[in-house]
Amino acid sequence: MSAGERSKIRFVSEGEAAIHYAIGHSPSVYDGIRLGSILLICDAGGGTTDIGIYKVRSVSPLYLEEVARPRCRIAGGVFVNEAARKHIKYQLRGSARLDNEECIVNAVREFERTAKRMFKGSEINSLVKVDSSGQSDESRNIHRGRLRIPRAKMMSFFDPLIKLVAQELQDTLVSSGALVVDKIILVGGFAESEYVYSELKTWANKRGLELAKPDGVLSKAISHGALTWHLESGVQLRVAKMHYGAETDLDYVAQDPEIHDRRTFQNILGQWRVRHGWNTIVSKNSRIRIGEEHAACFHHEFGQNDSFIVEMELYAYRWEEPPAFFKTKDGGLVDGFVHLGTVKANLTQCFEAAPYCIAPSGKKYKRLDYQICLSFDEIEISARLRWKTNKSYKYGEATIAYDV
Ligand SMILES: Nc1ncnc2c1ncn2[C@@H]1O[C@H](COP(=O)(O)OP(=O)(O)OP(=O)(O)O)[C@@H](O)[C@H]1O
Ligand SMILES: [Mg+2]
Repeated sequence: MSAGERSKIRFVSEGEAAIHYAIGHSPSVYDGIRLGSILLICDAGGGTTDIGIYKVRSVSPLYLEEVARPRCRIAGGVFVNEAARKHIKYQLRGSARLDNEECIVNAVREFERTAKRMFKGSEINSLVKVDSSGQSDESRNIHRGRLRIPRAKMMSFFDPLIKLVAQELQDTLVSSGALVVDKIILVGGFAESEYVYSELKTWANKRGLELAKPDGVLSKAISHGALTWHLESGVQLRVAKMHYGAETDLDYVAQDPEIHDRRTFQNILGQWRVRHGWNTIVSKNSRIRIGEEHAACFHHEFGQNDSFIVEMELYAYRWEEPPAFFKTKDGGLVDGFVHLGTVKANLTQCFEAAPYCIAPSGKKYKRLDYQICLSFDEIEISARLRWKTNKSYKYGEATIAYDV
């Protein structure tokens, strides 16, 4: 793919695309949504149920911000088929004509196509064609080639999965703490089942929660929503999805509990410093123009024998307020930070142009000032270091990282 083509590709999260679809397709979803609304999107699919929480930053055009960690649980429509398969297999066992893998596979396919999709929870029996010759076998509950599955049995296929989805919703609501969810939006193929939807609706009503699903085909919500998202937001400025920044050293302050037992080092001036401090260059949600550079200043004192190759690690932070340090005291990455790349520059020329200073220890050093510049296009972030020489800037090599 050429660079030009690549720059036309834009990514949207499944959750965000699903909300665009849901809001665009249904008054019941759209109703009551206003600036600041907190929306929980629950995509109950085949194998997994995925949940995300978004805040409405603008209603028209719709702009959403993800405000909590997405969650995922193994639960969805395929497990209903697994339970049905066990039951069908049990019912057919011992039958001279029907107790074989081919018949069972066909019967489960029929179940997927018909009984599963039609089940409302009110019918006495659901019927699944198991025998194309149309014979009856009342001992197996087969009537004219169709296996009767009683309501309670059908429910037993669905209920454990519905419970898992409800439990995941409950856990998400509890763990989202201060965020009060205004509306739960349900999408995904599993939620397309009338039975599943009505059970989840009852669950939500009991708890005073608003739950809605868009009209139309829920399993296509994401692909359609991605298009709507693209068409609606195509002309907007970009908004930084995360905080972007790099490491900075901080003064060692013994009384500060955050700093207290971190490893310290002495710089050339004899000052005690700690590593792994966080310095934001571009804040989450700030408006960014494509191609515009955002710079932040850094400095470092170099001795004569130091290496002048500077390497800086770039990180992004997902959630609301970045902490003071991006690494824990034992050196692990703090939850929410993502490594983006390493920017490098050779500051030899910069060093040569700078005047010497004398440290209290008598050592000669130079203080070099440089900047990290970040710029954004639709899908990538590029970063480079720059420093001043006389009147112009000199740039180090650029590093490209994909936005995540
Ligand atoms: N009307 C319906 N009634 C019951 N189940 C349905 C209905 N329509 C689709 N499903 C079920 O939804 C599931 C597929 O949903 P969907 O297309 O959202 O999943 P997916 O995105 O492929 O899976 P995943 O998100 O787990 O990767 C299948 O198990 C299918 O049987
Ligand atoms: Mg899916």
